[in-house]
Amino acid sequence: MTIDGTELMKKLISLSKRLGYVFQSGEIYGGLQSSWDYGPLGVELKKNIETSWWDYTVKTRPDVVGMDSAIITHPDVWMASGHLKNFHDPMVDCRECKGRFRLDHVKGDRCPECGGELTEPRDFGLMFKTKMGALEDESATVYLRPETCQSIFINFKNIVTATRQKLPFGIAQIGKAFRNEITTRNFVFRTREFEQMEMEYFCLPEEADKWFKYWLDQRMKWYLELGIKEDHLRLRTHDDSELAHYASSCVDIEYTFPFAPDGWGELEGIANRTDFDMKSHMRESGQDLSFQNLLTNQKIVPYVVETSGGIGRTLLAVLIDAYREEEVEGRTRVVLGLHRNLAPIKAAILPLSKKLSEQAYEVFELIRPYFPVQFDVTGSIGKRYRRMDEAGTPFCITFDFDSLEDKQVTIRERDSLDQIRIPIDTLASKLSDLMEHGWS
Ligand code: GAP
Repeated sequence: MTIDGTELMKKLISLSKRLGYVFQSGEIYGGLQSSWDYGPLGVELKKNIETSWWDYTVKTRPDVVGMDSAIITHPDVWMASGHLKNFHDPMVDCRECKGRFRLDHVKGDRCPECGGELTEPRDFGLMFKTKMGALEDESATVYLRPETCQSIFINFKNIVTATRQKLPFGIAQIGKAFRNEITTRNFVFRTREFEQMEMEYFCLPEEADKWFKYWLDQRMKWYLELGIKEDHLRLRTHDDSELAHYASSCVDIEYTFPFAPDGWGELEGIANRTDFDMKSHMRESGQDLSFQNLLTNQKIVPYVVETSGGIGRTLLAVLIDAYREEEVEGRTRVVLGLHRNLAPIKAAILPLSKKLSEQAYEVFELIRPYFPVQFDVTGSIGKRYRRMDEAGTPFCITFDFDSLEDKQVTIRERDSLDQIRIPIDTLASKLSDLMEHGWS
C-alpha cells in the first residue's frame, strides 16, 4: 500500500513511541524541542548500525584504526579548524509569527509559515559554548564539538607513533556532535545533539581523487548492505557555492526522505578536505604533522578524504525504508521489514497458550545465550505476531500443544509468512543459519 509522506512520518513517530524505538525527550515536562531519546528497541537498532559501520570501516580493514575522543575540546582547535570564524548560518526572523529560519531554507522574501515579512539576514553561530572549571570569565570558555573529525586531526601524530601506520591509512570515530541549529524538525533528521560516524583517510595529495572515488563507492555499498533500496539512494555533487570552507570537492549520499522539499535529503557527505585541516593545526599548534613519503623520502602534509555520516539519519532512513502496510486475509498488517542484522529482536518465543508458558520458557532460555530474543505470552497469538511484525522481528517461534509431544516448534518468517517445523534441539543452529543466510 502506498502511504503519503506526511502520513508515513506520523505513523512512524507513533510506532517508534509505541514500541520503544524513539521518544520525545522530556516528554513529561512538555518535551524538549529537537531532542529525542532512544528506547529499548531504538538503542539496539542504533548499536547494530554502529557495529555494522565499525566492522565494515575499521575491524575488517588493516588500513583503518579507531579512536574515541573527548566531546569538550581545546578551544584552539576550533580557531584552527575555522569553525569559530566560519561556522554560522545566516538567519531571518518573521516579524509576524516570530518564526526563525535559515536563509537558505526560505524561498523568496516572505515567511514560509505565515507569509509575513522577514527581517534582514544576520549570522547565527552554531557552536555550543560552555564554561570549564570554577572560573566564569572568557578564559573558561570551551565548546562542544560540532564535528568529531577534528579530534582525529589533532591526534594524528599520537596515532601514527602508536600504530606505525603508513600512508594511505584511515582513522575512524563514532561519537556525539552538537550544533545549535536554527531550525530543527522532521524527527531525528536534524537535531542539535546527534551522533556522527566519521572516517578520515590520509593519503598522498596526488592520490586523493582516487581514494575519494573509492570511499564513495564503499559508502554506497554499506547503505545497500543495510537493506536500503537502491533506487531510494543517490549521489549529489556539491557545487562550488555550497562547498564547506575546508573542502575542494564533496558528494552527498542522499535518501528519499519523504519530508525533503525536492524529495532527497543528505545522509552522508564524502569530501576531499585536502591538507586544509592538517596545515591549519600545524600553524596553530606549532607542531609538525607532516609525514615521511617513503617513495621520495620527502616530508609531505597528507591530504584527507573524509566520509561523514549521521547515525540518527541512517536510523531514520532504515526505519522509513522498512515500514510497510499490506493486506493479509482482509486485514492491514504493519511490518517493519528491517534487515535481520539490524533487527533489535532476532526472534520471539511465543507459547500458543498461557498453559504452555513454562515449557516455552525453557526454549527461550535455550536460545537466549546466542541471540537477542524475546518471550511474549500476553494477548492472542495473532496480536503477538502483529506486534513482532511491527517491531521488525524476523522470526517468531511458536510453541504449541504438539510441541509437548513431538519436541518441535514452528518458525514463522516475517516477510513471506512461510512456516517450518523443526526439532527444538536444532533450533539454535537453525536460527544461526537463518541469521547468516536469510530465509530462502
Ligand atoms: N566533518 C564533516 C561534517 O561534519 P556535515 O555534512 O556537516 O559534515 C556530516 O555532517 C553528517 O552528520 C551529515 O551528513 C548528517 O548525517 C549528520 N548531521 C549533520 N548535522 C546534523 C544534525 N543537525 N542533525 C542530525 N545529523 C546531522
